[in-house]
Amino acid sequence: MSRATSGLVCSACGAAHAKWAGRCTACDGWNTLVDHTAPRLTGDVERLRDVRSDASEPRPTTISEVDRVLGGGLVPGSVTLLGGEPGIGKSTLLLQVLGCWPGPCLYVSAEENPHQVRVRADRLSLDTRSVWVTAHTTVPEILAAVDRIEPTLVVVDSIQTVSDPTVASLPGSIGQVRQCAQILVGEAKRRGVALVMIGHVTKDGAIAGPRVLEHVVDTVMSFEGDRHHALRLLRAVKHRFGATNELGLFEMTELGLVGVPDAARLFLADGSARRTGSVVVPALDGTRPLLVETQSLTIRSPPNAPARRTTQGLDAGRLAMLLAVLDRHGGFHLGGHDVYASTVGGVRLSEPGTDLAVAAAVASSLANSPVDARTVVIGELGLGGEVRHVVQPNRRLEEARRLGFERAVVPVATPAISGIELVRVCHISDALHVLGIDEPARRNRAAS
Ligand code: TYD
Ligand code: MG
Repeated sequence: MSRATSGLVCSACGAAHAKWAGRCTACDGWNTLVDHTAPRLTGDVERLRDVRSDASEPRPTTISEVDRVLGGGLVPGSVTLLGGEPGIGKSTLLLQVLGCWPGPCLYVSAEENPHQVRVRADRLSLDTRSVWVTAHTTVPEILAAVDRIEPTLVVVDSIQTVSDPTVASLPGSIGQVRQCAQILVGEAKRRGVALVMIGHVTKDGAIAGPRVLEHVVDTVMSFEGDRHHALRLLRAVKHRFGATNELGLFEMTELGLVGVPDAARLFLADGSARRTGSVVVPALDGTRPLLVETQSLTIRSPPNAPARRTTQGLDAGRLAMLLAVLDRHGGFHLGGHDVYASTVGGVRLSEPGTDLAVAAAVASSLANSPVDARTVVIGELGLGGEVRHVVQPNRRLEEARRLGFERAVVPVATPAISGIELVRVCHISDALHVLGIDEPARRNRAAS
């Protein structure tokens, strides 16, 4: 391995400097410059066919929703980064993984002391006989603990609190995080220990340090959810050992995280047969079909106030586009109306296959026309009002049928499946007509 340059680097922001200075000109940090000397080159090279090719098998964590996302479990010697906002449940999830892990494992807990960890583990009714805990957070102390216990799994909670005494900057700075992660990754690989590091995610979604960690680990998982809902979603964002499109679902309960193997009715509101402003869409998250109810409410904006658009679980920019399409191609004019659009159950919908359902929910509310609750709606909307094809229509429709939906409004090219009636539409106005949502102008004409 060689580094292209040697010289001075800011340990806080990573900027390179040609000459020494007391202050980094990039981030204004004082005394943050460190010498970044290139290692001596050894010219190590080996013939590819002599390289060991036996891939290690993943070891199940026995928490099935975690194993689903990891494609079977944690591979010995692999390094996983678990990102998520503070308070979402990362420590809880990994403590549960430790409690189920077959064999000795080590929990490096910098954010809670061992007493607090024990109280939490008891509350979660975990068997902690083979779980070791340390509050020491320097790299040499962690490695000493690993040498003593010889665990097969190490959890570091969190990487932002670990430090290497040879690096001058503070824990959590980019220089520290990168250096500590690199050492721990190397040691995990050398010893064949599965390592999971927790990384707090900043507001803009990046794991602290400008994504420095994502390159050095094998797997990046994110743990997401709306803090006001119990639902939590686990995804692999990067995964060297398998697919990244599996979704794990959990509910945060009094007794910790409980897997939700069947998401059947999680995202559907209870209610009557016909509802105004509510449309169900069979969305796809990775390969997992989720039936999600989208809801909308439109009301007249107060006089002299700008029209508000508020979303929850939906992309605000996408909603703005759907409102423009409804206005131009559906005859539904939202100017002068506040529009609220959300998903039930705190799930986030970002795939375009949900466009038509969201637009129909808004139109249903504006027109005050209820929609049949046994009908699902699938389709992406183009700027011309055309209903576009979606990926994997079959999977979505099978799940809708399984949950008792009887009819689906779908793009024209959708192949038939038995047990559910398909109504194929080309244009948003056809879809709204089929759903019984009448354009306000037409209704006014009919009434006069
Ligand atoms: P935690 O795992 O500490 O989050 P993170 O490590 O991502 O910061 O979980 C925080 C929240 O989870 C906390 O607000 C309380 C809640 N919680 C439960 O609802 N039930 C439980 O059994 C546990 C342990 C936590
Ligand atoms: Mg925590």
